[in-house]
Formats: sequence, structure tokens, C-alpha cells
Amino acid sequence: MIAIGCDHAGVEMKKAVIQALEEKGFELRDMGTDGEPCDYPDMAERVCGLVVSGECEKGILICGTGIGMSIAANKIKGIRAALCSDSFSTRFTRLHNDANIMCMGARTIGPGLAAELAEIFLTTGFEGGRHQRRVDKITDIENKN
Ligand code: RB5
Repeated sequence: MIAIGCDHAGVEMKKAVIQALEEKGFELRDMGTDGEPCDYPDMAERVCGLVVSGECEKGILICGTGIGMSIAANKIKGIRAALCSDSFSTRFTRLHNDANIMCMGARTIGPGLAAELAEIFLTTGFEGGRHQRRVDKITDIENKN
């Protein structure tokens, strides 16, 4: 199960991403907003909560730029959120960073690209090995601060 959420800026793009992913067979849990103006940190906390608890394996967050969502998501213990706007970064944040949340900007990329990036994010595995050591160091930083 994949959690997805957005603020008011991301509603249309979220719909496009959900439709494209469902057509590919992914199951999504839509945490809103459905259009009501809201504050992106609240949505980030909702979606990330489902990932941290293990109810959802990964999450997708959409706001105007994707930046607010990624800043908020990365404050949550256990979350590694990546702002994605190109296929290379999207693939490598899974391969090397084991990112569990992807953030996208509805005002910076189009819905077609967003859907394609989401599929890359959800189908690329973590490489582990030396990258596991580095991800563990991120967790150490999180635990120390
Ligand atoms: C909302 O207007 C906008 O600030 C928000 O969607 C996002 O871009 C913040 O980072």
C-alpha cells in the first residue's frame, strides 16, 4: 500500500498520479486534501505517519514546489524524503538513499512526468551494501539530534 497526500496546490497532479499508478496495479491510500486549502506540514505528517508505522511501504507528497513537503517530511524520524523532478535522481534516491517518501512540485513539473517518476520510485529497489552504511549514518545523525 502506498500513501499519497497533497496540499491545495497539488490536488490535480495527485489525481493524475493516482490514476496512472492504479492503472499499473498499485494500491494507494489517499490522505487528502481533496481540494480544501490546507497546510503542507499537516499533510506531510499524515502520510509519513503511515510509512513510519509500517501501514504503508512508501509515500508520495505533492505541494506547489515539493520543497515544503520534503522539509517537513524529513523532520520525521525514520523518513528519508527526496524531492524528485527527473528520472535519474528519482532512480538513484531509491538505489542509494533508500528514500521512503518522494515529493514533487505541481507547479514545477507536469502530471505526465510526475506519474512516470512515481512509477520509477515505486519499482526501484535499494542497492544496500556500502549504501546501507551511509543510510545508517543518516539514522545515527537523526538519533543524535
Ligand atoms: C502553497 O501555496 C505553497 O506554498 C505550497 O504548496 C508549497 O509549494 C510549499 O513548499
